[in-house]
Amino acid sequence: MRTLISEIIKKEGELVELSGWVSVRRDHGKIIFIDLRDRSGGCQLVFIGGNKEVYEKASTLRSEWVISVSGIVNKRPPAMVNPEILTGTHEVLVDKLEILNRAGELPISIDTDGYEIGEEVRLKYRYLDLRRSRLSKNLRMRHRMTAFIRSFLGDRDFIEVETPILTKSTPEGARDYLVPSRLEPGKFYALPQSPQQYKQLLMVAGLEKYFQIARCFRDEDTRGDRQPEFTQLDMEISFTDQEEVMALNEQLLTDLVKTVFPEKTIQEIPFPRFSYAEAMKKYGTDRPDLRKSKEDSNLLAFCWIVDFPFFEKSKDGGWTFTHNPFSAPKPEYLENLLAGKSIGEIQAAQYDVVLNGLEIGGGSIRNHKPEALRAVFSIISSKDIDSFRHMYDAFISGAPPHGGIAWGLDRLASLLLNEPNIREVIAFPKTGDGRDLMMNAPSAAGKEQLKELGIELKKKK
Ligand code: AMO
Repeated sequence: MRTLISEIIKKEGELVELSGWVSVRRDHGKIIFIDLRDRSGGCQLVFIGGNKEVYEKASTLRSEWVISVSGIVNKRPPAMVNPEILTGTHEVLVDKLEILNRAGELPISIDTDGYEIGEEVRLKYRYLDLRRSRLSKNLRMRHRMTAFIRSFLGDRDFIEVETPILTKSTPEGARDYLVPSRLEPGKFYALPQSPQQYKQLLMVAGLEKYFQIARCFRDEDTRGDRQPEFTQLDMEISFTDQEEVMALNEQLLTDLVKTVFPEKTIQEIPFPRFSYAEAMKKYGTDRPDLRKSKEDSNLLAFCWIVDFPFFEKSKDGGWTFTHNPFSAPKPEYLENLLAGKSIGEIQAAQYDVVLNGLEIGGGSIRNHKPEALRAVFSIISSKDIDSFRHMYDAFISGAPPHGGIAWGLDRLASLLLNEPNIREVIAFPKTGDGRDLMMNAPSAAGKEQLKELGIELKKKK
């Protein structure tokens, strides 16, 4: 039965079977050392000339070959202890070696942190890039984050619900990705920019407490903290208010850091709060970096930004929403909203959470009253209400008051893992210009496929 490498220190004197990848081979005449690696870590294998057949096979091993061995776990002599690795006090004297697969020369080295390698080649060979310990640790830590979140919310009576990917546009302010329909040529699905409408409809459905680790799609120019597809921790609660949503999220963020990243310090709890106007005046931004010391890579300065203006002037001189057309106004502005008065002064019940200068989440109490929703759509543009008829219809069917939030999970993970951008915490990210270099996507579609979809491409001039 296979033993994980990290377990060998508990098995001194025992015969173990190990499987994994060859990191390095070192030949010392009568003795060969192999550094073997599996998902749990690395250890040293020893092959001695006395066991000729196995020794000769070992002398053919190359980096990244996949092997299986069996041998006895021995304590290393004190002078040979390697304090750099977890199993550095022990080694395995091999008596059986099976080569499971060979590997050619790798296009990228994987024994460094990888920052020195061009990103294009790292992304093209991402399956190799992910072998480096920094990246595999990032994926493991990200898993621990989502596992913690699921258990925290599950304990508090939230249920995780999956919502559609083939859907209709949600206005989050970005461009949609469209997917052509084969059965209705000329019609398109949109990939969701967020599960916003579905989660609100789940509140109308009486679920009361929803969350989802949800994939979102936005066709916008990518940057270090933006990907065309990214992940949100999305949640929504009925019969709630702004204070409750903020308190719950503050608790979740605090407990998550304490449990999964105990080496980090949160600068201030409760998180400081600023109104949008205050933040703009004091810091010139609505996502201030409040860290008292930028030297300390383990310092986390969270804050909340509240009291956002609901509307801003659009390019065509009309009004558009600043965050979310489904937000409620703060109660004291409801009258103005319904009357369409002093529009620029109306504030939304909207809250953003900021960490070390990055917006890591945002949400609001929603507009559950149909007449108020209608008022928002009449302010931003009368035709939009038609495409949200289902929302309006739902709201006249007994919609409970509700509100929620969504975190940018990739952004949060990149900050907690001290990574310079979100690509380092996503298994298969896209390049700055939206390409997947490993799969070679996007790519041309075949003539037949296009014909079936009723799509004709214009010839490039
Ligand atoms: P919003 O659009 O503010 O709100 O998104 C929530 C959070 O998602 C992250 N984010 C991104 N992360 C990576 N790449 C992107 N392209 C990207 N765009 C956004 C940010 C942001 O704070 N439905 C509402 C939430 C709600 O009201 O409940 C929404 O999507 O960290």
